[in-house]
Amino acid sequence: MAKLVFRNSGKTITDSNQIKEFLAQYGVVYDRWGVDRLSEDIRKKYDIDEENSKTIIEAYRKELEELKSKMGYITEDIVVLSDKTPNLDGLMEKFKREHHHTDDEVRFVVDGSGIFPVKIDGDIVDIHVEAGELIVVPAGARHWFELDENRKIKCIRVFKTPAGWEAIYNENEKATMRD
Ligand SMILES: [Fe+2]
Repeated sequence: MAKLVFRNSGKTITDSNQIKEFLAQYGVVYDRWGVDRLSEDIRKKYDIDEENSKTIIEAYRKELEELKSKMGYITEDIVVLSDKTPNLDGLMEKFKREHHHTDDEVRFVVDGSGIFPVKIDGDIVDIHVEAGELIVVPAGARHWFELDENRKIKCIRVFKTPAGWEAIYNENEKATMRD
């Protein structure tokens, strides 16, 4: 289950309704779609191919289309990180750098888990997500991504344009979450 950890105070929130309500104030979407509809072998396949990706995306077609029409997203794909990923440590160093995007960062976790630290009101809030959970980090929100001790995650990502994916690292280009 998801968990919020506030770095300044150490406070944690584990109740999913409270997590959803807290994050919604800052434009961060949290939802649970579950993974019961996927077989274990499909979920846990990390050397993904077109068939695996298609099966997963089709299983969530209804939720994905609702989200896309509501938020203006165009397309989706599957992304994985695991010990099978070449240069995993190097990639994780890159993902740990604070940045924002001009589009929302949308992830539905199919397997594994990870942490999205997001800067909120002068604090850093670690948003821990795991299989079955959706997170939308809104455009402009300063954040980064970390793997946890499982060191693997498999996600559906949903996006508008590939250009919106580029990470903007420079603080001076920062747009605040309430702009
Ligand atoms: Fe990002």
